[in-house]
Amino acid sequence: MSQIDSLLHEDRHFAPAASFRAQAVGTAELYERAAADREGFWAEQARELVHWHRPFTQVLDWTNPPFAEWFADGELNVAYNCLDRHVEAGNGARVALYWEGEPGDSRQVTYAELTDEVKRLANVLGDLGIGRGDRVAIYLPMIPEAVAAMLAVARVGAIHSVVFGGFSADSLRARIDDAGAKLVITADGGWRKGKVSPLKPAVDQALADRGSGAQETVEHVLVVKRGDNPVDWAEGRDIWWHEAVPAASADHEAQPFPAENPLFILYTSGTTGKPKGILHTSGGYLTQATFTNKVVHDIHPETDVYWCTADIGWITGHSYVTYGPLSNGASQVLYEGTPESPEPGRWWALVEKYKVSVLYTAPTAIRSFMKQGRQIPQQYDLSSIRVLGSVGEPINPEAWIWYREIIGADEAPIVDTWWQTETGAIMISALPGVTETKPGSAQVPIPGVSIDVVDESGAHVGNGNGGLLVITEPWPSMLRGIWGDPERFVETYWEKFADQGYYFAGDGARLDEDGDIWLLGRVDDVMNVSGHRLSTAEIESALVANEAVAEAAVVGASDETTGQAVVAFVIIKENYLKQHSPDGLAGTLRGWVGEQIGPIARPRDVYIVGELPKTRSGKIMRRLLRDVAEGREVGDTTTLADTAVMSVISAQVR
Ligand code: WT7
Repeated sequence: MSQIDSLLHEDRHFAPAASFRAQAVGTAELYERAAADREGFWAEQARELVHWHRPFTQVLDWTNPPFAEWFADGELNVAYNCLDRHVEAGNGARVALYWEGEPGDSRQVTYAELTDEVKRLANVLGDLGIGRGDRVAIYLPMIPEAVAAMLAVARVGAIHSVVFGGFSADSLRARIDDAGAKLVITADGGWRKGKVSPLKPAVDQALADRGSGAQETVEHVLVVKRGDNPVDWAEGRDIWWHEAVPAASADHEAQPFPAENPLFILYTSGTTGKPKGILHTSGGYLTQATFTNKVVHDIHPETDVYWCTADIGWITGHSYVTYGPLSNGASQVLYEGTPESPEPGRWWALVEKYKVSVLYTAPTAIRSFMKQGRQIPQQYDLSSIRVLGSVGEPINPEAWIWYREIIGADEAPIVDTWWQTETGAIMISALPGVTETKPGSAQVPIPGVSIDVVDESGAHVGNGNGGLLVITEPWPSMLRGIWGDPERFVETYWEKFADQGYYFAGDGARLDEDGDIWLLGRVDDVMNVSGHRLSTAEIESALVANEAVAEAAVVGASDETTGQAVVAFVIIKENYLKQHSPDGLAGTLRGWVGEQIGPIARPRDVYIVGELPKTRSGKIMRRLLRDVAEGREVGDTTTLADTAVMSVISAQVR
């Protein structure tokens, strides 16, 4: 009897086409090599994919778990790997970035040009006293300077902390303070939804607000002119990029740094209020980011045009915009704005214009395109697309099939990639030329990664059962800690399965009859109804499979008789809303879920709402919905993209 009542059946399978398989970078042989000698396999990848100024002789040092060291006696320069080596190999004229601004302006930046810009910026950083180990906060829109800034910081051995441009002055200040940043790199503003959204004023506010007792670590603010919006200027502190960088020398030799030199800190929200500064280092991180980008996205750098839609403020933007693709020497699209500006088909216009061949995006985006309807993408030529990737949350089979059929011409393989800020790079995914894919399943660990699904005691659950997702062996791109808080690092990830030495990911998962992995959402999103465990993701998937439903979020609300009850919040497609009453629709959907999954999963309440509360990265904040479902005052909404949405929902539910 399965631990999680998983009654959804998904029988559609898609084997790679022979023609795709024949040209694929990732082959079945990789699994064999990794299974035979995991550490040897990663050493091979590190030697093959990364340039070492000083070759390593040690692979993994795990003598002081959970503090790992990979390739520790090796030395490299991460920026050299992403830039100079491609120019030296004769590929300087290859386009690194096809950049498109939201208003329609565009720039093509070659590897030679990007290398030149990064060398100049590295010299500016040197002049500003930024060197090995110093922290630099980056608060920029999606412009080429954002990528250049990350690489220049890496080039001089300093540590970047990219803060998503959508975060408030408060969040920025907290991150600057926690890391003790010496320099902030920002822009006057950037384009979003048809207008300039200011950034520099938030930096000014963050720095002004800092308590008088706080150590004043920020010495300079380097400002890119992008939005042309008026900005205040602190003489002596603030520096224009367009004055400093072109004036600096373009001669800069990349110095080698040890493999374990910190590369970046990236803050991510945990279950408590204080964001965690996830720390990543150089050699292992670059190895796994490069490897996974190559074999999972099937990158052929000479011919592909790759586009990862993530912002550099998230880990996906670090590993699959900046480091992975540039280390591989790929050409990629970088887009500043939002998907629907100025028209709903903007993304597809970009795919057509740049002939994008590999597209990597999130299920939340796919579902919002489904909501608009297939007639929008169908107006564009998407025939260049040959690989589709998904990341960030479970992708429900309906969205998966839509993605394949409408965007991928019913041909492009889909790779559903599971990983986290903490893992640094992809951990579970199909290889598009090897794996027979199943809609909704992330499927198998990539070669060299060891994953298991276990019960509360840490024992393997066996096929057909659900449990907790753990990583059983250290991996090259694993986080090296939480900035300034080694105890929290141990407690959060390593204490639950300390006996086994497993990393606990915080996700629930199920192994199907073939042993393939299905992610079920964070474990705090797993409900217990009358002693049965149910996944919010599973019920949401059933709801969006109904033709009337555009989006759904499910929470477990406490219930006197059943322990928890299923409460659903759904957005109904416009034409259905016109034809049916909300009560009628709610009743129909309760019955529908009962039919799809089983009576136990039938929601107690189905609320028809106009919007769902989402974070800026698109994650639904179920905690807030739980507050509404349980009739409580709604809690802290400061991380919502739109803070007004909760009062609207509360009113709709009442
Ligand atoms: C959490 C990590 C990985 C970069 C973006 C998010 C969820 C991520 C998947 C997937 C199901 C997924 C997990 C994970 N998640 N990818 N393919 N299928 N769930 O990074 O903000 O660190 O979030 O996102 O719950 O723990 P993040």
